[in-house]
Parts: sequence; structure tokens; C-alpha cells
Amino acid sequence: MGRMPCGPLLRDDGTVSSSPNAHVPSWMLDELAAAGRENLDAVHVSRYDEKEPWPAEEEVRLAEGLGLSPDSVVVDLGAGTGQFALAAAPRFRRVVAVDVSEVMLEVLRRKVDQARHDNVEVELGGFLTYRHRRDAADLVYSRYALHHLPDFWKALALRNIHSMLRPGGVLRLWDIVYSFEPAAAEERLEAWCSTLDDASGFSEWVRADIEEHIRDEHSTFSWVLEPMLARAGFAVEEAEYSEDRIFAKYVLRRA
Ligand SMILES: C[S@@+](CC[C@H](N)C(=O)[O-])C[C@H]1O[C@@H](n2cnc3c(N)ncnc32)[C@H](O)[C@@H]1O
Repeated sequence: MGRMPCGPLLRDDGTVSSSPNAHVPSWMLDELAAAGRENLDAVHVSRYDEKEPWPAEEEVRLAEGLGLSPDSVVVDLGAGTGQFALAAAPRFRRVVAVDVSEVMLEVLRRKVDQARHDNVEVELGGFLTYRHRRDAADLVYSRYALHHLPDFWKALALRNIHSMLRPGGVLRLWDIVYSFEPAAAEERLEAWCSTLDDASGFSEWVRADIEEHIRDEHSTFSWVLEPMLARAGFAVEEAEYSEDRIFAKYVLRRA
């Protein structure tokens, strides 16, 4: 796989520093290389919907409760196989599904074609490189994807997301985010791993998947992420932490 085509960087005022074909600095993160081994693996991706079925419909209803209407524009970042994008398509005017993995996007395109949605745009791009054009988004949705970026890059990605949204627009962020203290890390993470010690029969995931996530990906602490969100110009409207303090769901509003 080659390096992702990479767009220009964002200025403080939200404008971009030069044309989309501008020189890419060699210090720029390679988002594809950071995208997670399994997300580029055709076998894993072909089974993703079975491994990770989830109620995307509930999330669409949540978005409607937050003020989205049939005229709304939605961007799904790190869309994967498009579970949210496909649930959103019948309810909103325009849905842009963005992912850095061509392997994921191939599955997503097939599903969009099968469902005959003509309002879903499938775009190869990353948190840092996707540039939203035409009407500003009412909602940016992102589930289980931002943790692929190290924290410095998360902060830049959040600025990019901010620039996609209209004032008052919503960022729905759902990810693996640790809301415990460093002293509790070993105990919490071991407890999480052990939930899959003998998971045969109820989960397609195995302990090694969690170990790989902790070791090789970039989930951060809620008390690191939340100031970053504020710095990027988001107000936290809702923060929900799982009982085991491993997962967090946010409703964030662009000021
Ligand atoms: C665990 S999957 C989640 C997919 C989907 N959001 C869901 O909830 O089912 C993570 C997705 O993030 C994508 N991804 C990883 N790094 C990314 C980046 N920098 N920009 C955009 N997408 C990225 C991966 O390719 C993958 O499709």
C-alpha cells in the first residue's frame, strides 16, 4: 500500500495553507501506515460486520434528537464498512463516508450500490487529509477510529473536523478512551483483556485483539482528550463513560 495522498495543513483561522496539491511535508503522519493492521486486511474487513454488529439506527435517532433534519449534511470519518453511513443515508440529505483504507471502502461502496443510495459519497481520505467541500456539515460522526492517531495528530484532526462543521454543528465521537488514573491502568487493562480470555461463543474478537489495541494503537485518557476538544473549539454537551472506564461517547458542539 502506498502513502495516502495528503492535503495541505490547516491554519489557525480554519483556512487551508495552500492548494490541495501542495507539497506534503515529509514530517506529515502517514495515516495509512497508522490505520491499524486489521483495517487493511481483506479477510478481517470481509468479516467486520459480523464481528462488530452495532445499533447504528440508535445513533441516527440520537442525531435527529440533536436537531438534524432531512436536509442535513453528515460526514462519517473512519467510516469503515459504513454501518453508520448506511443507516444515516435514508434520513439525511447528504452523507459523506470517509476512510483511509481502500479495503474498507470497497466493502462500503458495494453496500451503497446494493442499497441504491444516491446521496452517499464515498471518499478515500483521512482525519488529517480529508477536505470537506460544498455545504458545511451539520454532523461529523466518528466511531472507533480517532484512536489510530497519536495525540499530537488527534489535536490537528479535531481542528480539521471543526472546519468541516457549521457553527452549532455536532461532533459525535465514540471511541476507546480511558477514563481512569494512570495508577489504575494495569488493573483496568488486564480486566478488559480478561473479558475475552474465553470468549468463544459470544465474541468474534479474542484477547490478542485487545492486547494489540493497547500496545500498538493510540487510545488516550479522557483527561487528555477533553482539553484537546476544548482547544479545538468544541463544547462537551454529553460525556458517557462505560462502567469499566474503557469506552467513551461524546456529544460535542462547535461553538
Ligand atoms: C474499527 S474501524 C471502525 C469503523 C466504523 N466507524 C465502525 O464503527 O464500524 C476503524 C476505521 O478507522 C479507519 N481509520 C484509521 N485511521 C484513519 C484515519 N487516519 N483517517 C480516517 N480513517 C481512519 C480504519 O481504516 C477503519 O475503517
